[in-house]
Amino acid sequence: MTISKHGIDLLRDPSLNKSTAFTEAENRALGIVGLVPDVTETMDVQLSRVMAQLGHKTTDLERYIYLVNLLDHNETLFYRTVMSDPARFLPIVYDPTIGEACLKFGHIYRQTRGMYLSMTRRGSVKEILRNWPQKDVRFICVTDGGRILGLGDLGANGAGIPIGKLQLYTACAGVPPQYLLPMYLDAGTNNEQYLHDPLYLGMRKTRPPTEELYSFVDEFVEAVQEVFPKCCVHFEDWTGVDAIHLLERYRDKYCVYNDDVQGTAGITLAGMINAVKIKGTRLKDEKYLFLGAGSAGIGLANLLCSALVAQGMTLKEAQSRVYMFDINGLLESTRTDLVDFQRPYAHRHAPTRDFVAAIESIKPTTIIGVSTVGGAFTQAVIEAMSRINERPVVLALSNPTEKAECTPEQAYTWSKGKAIYAAGVQFPPVHLNGQTFLPGQANNFYIFPAVGMAIFATQALRVTDEMFIEAAGGVADQVAPELLRQGLLYPPQANILETEIQTAARVATLVFDSGLARVPRPADMVAFIRSHVYKPEYPALAAAEATRGR
Ligand code: NAI
Repeated sequence: MTISKHGIDLLRDPSLNKSTAFTEAENRALGIVGLVPDVTETMDVQLSRVMAQLGHKTTDLERYIYLVNLLDHNETLFYRTVMSDPARFLPIVYDPTIGEACLKFGHIYRQTRGMYLSMTRRGSVKEILRNWPQKDVRFICVTDGGRILGLGDLGANGAGIPIGKLQLYTACAGVPPQYLLPMYLDAGTNNEQYLHDPLYLGMRKTRPPTEELYSFVDEFVEAVQEVFPKCCVHFEDWTGVDAIHLLERYRDKYCVYNDDVQGTAGITLAGMINAVKIKGTRLKDEKYLFLGAGSAGIGLANLLCSALVAQGMTLKEAQSRVYMFDINGLLESTRTDLVDFQRPYAHRHAPTRDFVAAIESIKPTTIIGVSTVGGAFTQAVIEAMSRINERPVVLALSNPTEKAECTPEQAYTWSKGKAIYAAGVQFPPVHLNGQTFLPGQANNFYIFPAVGMAIFATQALRVTDEMFIEAAGGVADQVAPELLRQGLLYPPQANILETEIQTAARVATLVFDSGLARVPRPADMVAFIRSHVYKPEYPALAAAEATRGR
C-alpha cells in the first residue's frame, strides 16, 4: 500500500500505525528510524503485550479505557485483540461495560472520536459533515442520547454508544472500519445531574419540542444523502416514541434503520424460532405477553407479526396473539394514554396493573421483558408462567445487567428447570440439580453487524423488515442441536465472525431478490461476503513518490 504520510504523522495515524511491527525497509522508506524501538515484532508478540497489560487492569471500565486508547493509536491491533476472543472482549467494548462508560463519558473522555452535531448548527449540517476526513462513509450510527440502554436520558454522555456500536460492525461481521462514522446529535438533555456537571460535554439546555427536533433530524438525514450518497443511517438509543416515529418518517425514502426497533426484534425472533424448536411447536401456536411497550417492545411485536403473516396468518390474527403491559398496566382497548403504534396491541380485556393477574388471565406461553426494570419478573411471575406452561419461555432482555427482568438462576430455580430463558446480557451457565443450563444472550450484535455487512456488500438502497426476519432465521439455524438441548437459543460467541458471514450471505441474497442491490449479483454469495471482510492485518507500506527520501 502506497501512502503519503511520513515520519511522526504516520505514527499518529491509528489506521496506518504498526507501532513495533514496521520492517527495516518501512522504517527507512517512511522516515521513522529512531522514532520507534529498533525491532520488528510480529502481531502475535504485540498481542501478548496487550494481553499482559490488560491483565494488570482490575475493572472492566479500566480495560475499556485501555482498549479505546489502543484504538486511538493502533486500529489494526485493537481489532486483532477484540476479534481474537469476541466472547471475552465484546462485553468490554460494548454491553455491559459501555453503560458504565457512558455514565462517566465526560469524566473519562480523552480524545475525540466520531462527530458531534449540535442543534445550534442548524442550517450548516452539510458543511459540517464535509469536515469528516473520509469521503466514502457507508454507515452513520446516530443517537441523541435520549434513552441510552436502560439508563434513560444521558445526553452527550450517550456519544459512547454509536462509537461502541460501530466497532461491532467490524469486530462481529468484518465491515471495514474506515467506512464507519459515529455521530452524536446534540438536542440538549433533561438530565439535571449532567446539566450541572462541569465536565459534561453537551449543550446545557433542556430538550426542544418534538417538531423542532424532527426538523433538525430532517436536515441531517437529507445532508447525509448529498455528502455520503452510499450511506445507511443507523438510529440508536433514541426515546421509544422518537425511535418509531423517525423510522416511519424515513424508512421508505432513505437507507435507514433503527437497531432498537428492528435489531432487537430480529434477535428476539431468532430466540423464539429456537424456543419453538425446543418445544416442538410453531411460532403461530404461541401467545406473547410483553413487559414494556417502548421502541424495543413495539419493534419486536411488529416484526413478530410480520413473521407470523409470512407463515399464513392475517395481520389481525397475528396481532391478537400479542399482549403488552407497560408502566400503566395492561394495554387494553379502554386505555386513553396510548400512542398510535401501541393501539394494535390494545385488545378487549379488563384493565389491570397486576402483571401476575394478566398472566393468569391471558395465559401467554412467552413473556418478554423490555421494560428497563431489573427484577420485574418476580418469583410469583415465573411460578405463574410455570403453572400454565410445561416449558415457559422467559426472555429478560433489558440491559445493562442489573436491569434484566430476572437472572437465569432465578428463572431456572423458580420454574424448577422448566424455563427456556435468554437475557439481553451474557450470564454464566447455571448448574441446578445435576443439570447444566446455558442461558443465551439475546444481543443485537448477532443481527445488526450481519445486516450491516449485507447492506455494505450489496450497497442496498433500503433496509426492510424482511431483512431482519431473514437474519433472525440465519442466526437461529446456526445453533447446533446438542446446544439447543441444553437450552441455548443463540450461537456461541467464540465463532461470531463466521456466524455473521453466513447470516449476511442470507440477507444479501434477499437484497438481490428484492431488487434493492446497487451492485451486480455474484454467483457465490458466501464468497462474495467474504471478499468484503476486513482482516486485522498490517499491510506492507511503501512511501509515495513525493515523500520518498525526505
Ligand atoms: P423505552 O423507554 O422505549 O420503553 C420502556 C417501556 O417499559 C415503556 O413502555 C414503559 O412504559 C415500560 N415500563 C417502564 N417501567 C415499567 C414498569 N415498572 N412496569 C411495566 N412496564 C414498564 O425503552 P426500549 O427502547 O423499548 O428499551 C427497553 C429495554 O430493552 C432497555 O433496557 C434496553 O436496554 C433493552 N434493549 C435490549 C436489547 C437487547 O438486545 N437485548 C436491544 C434494545 C433494547
